[in-house]
Amino acid sequence: MRQVRKPRKVQDMSDCFYQILTGCLKEEGLRHRSVELDPAIWQEFLSDVPAVSAVAPERKPAAVTENVPTPSSAPSSSAPDVGPVTATSAPVAADGPEAALAALAEEVRVCRRCRLCEKRHLAVFGEGNPRAELMFIGEGPGADEDRTGRPFVGRAGQLLDKMIAAMTFAREEVYIANVVKCRPPGNRAPEPDEAAACIGYLKRQIELIRPKVIVSLGGVALSFLFKESAGISRMRGHWIDFNGIPVMPTFHPAFLLRQESAKRDAWSDLQQVMARLGRKRQR
Ligand code: URA
Repeated sequence: MRQVRKPRKVQDMSDCFYQILTGCLKEEGLRHRSVELDPAIWQEFLSDVPAVSAVAPERKPAAVTENVPTPSSAPSSSAPDVGPVTATSAPVAADGPEAALAALAEEVRVCRRCRLCEKRHLAVFGEGNPRAELMFIGEGPGADEDRTGRPFVGRAGQLLDKMIAAMTFAREEVYIANVVKCRPPGNRAPEPDEAAACIGYLKRQIELIRPKVIVSLGGVALSFLFKESAGISRMRGHWIDFNGIPVMPTFHPAFLLRQESAKRDAWSDLQQVMARLGRKRQR
């Protein structure tokens, strides 16, 4: 493949971002753009999807910080102090991640690190196989998740279930979590300080589960997991490294419900994940 030369315009970009960019270009060159679609998969993935009434853009990702705040008894309204996630930051026990995940879930259940705790009904820790090879990361709970305490159980969740099934996985086989564990009021995107307060929990979940592959769903999850983001439309379909774990960013199912035409790209992204995990559709 032809060497990708660093153009002058991007010389002041960080090395990290430049590497991601050149990686993407290389991969783009190697990848065939056309995606073979099995009509049966298409049927599963597309069925029961309501007609698109308006094409709404994805919610704009906010800036990200990697810091984890010190726990406090009162929710703060400004950026919190930095400190580790508490009781469960010990290494993974030899007998597996279950106990540490349960302790972390308890920490999240009573968490008051940010203002989102004030209006939440239930914190949504995440669920699935603690030893999953595949993990999905969304943005934050909506109304249905806040009510039930489970991730992705509303309309977007139903589509996510179809995406998981199309990838030949059962929902119980994978692990599903969010960047923030409490519902942002009115389904707004999490504020940077809210995500900063919560991201330590997600990082610890990833550390404990050690999935082989992560699928990040939507621009907000992407921007909070990686400090720099070129936006989901650009970055989707391109592998990014997160502490040694390959991450495939793709569109959020809520976005796919609004913009059906984006499903073709999402399916292409998910097929890359399947290939990486050695999963094949039975014909
Ligand atoms: N959207 C998300 O990002 N997460 C959920 O759990 C539900 C909807």
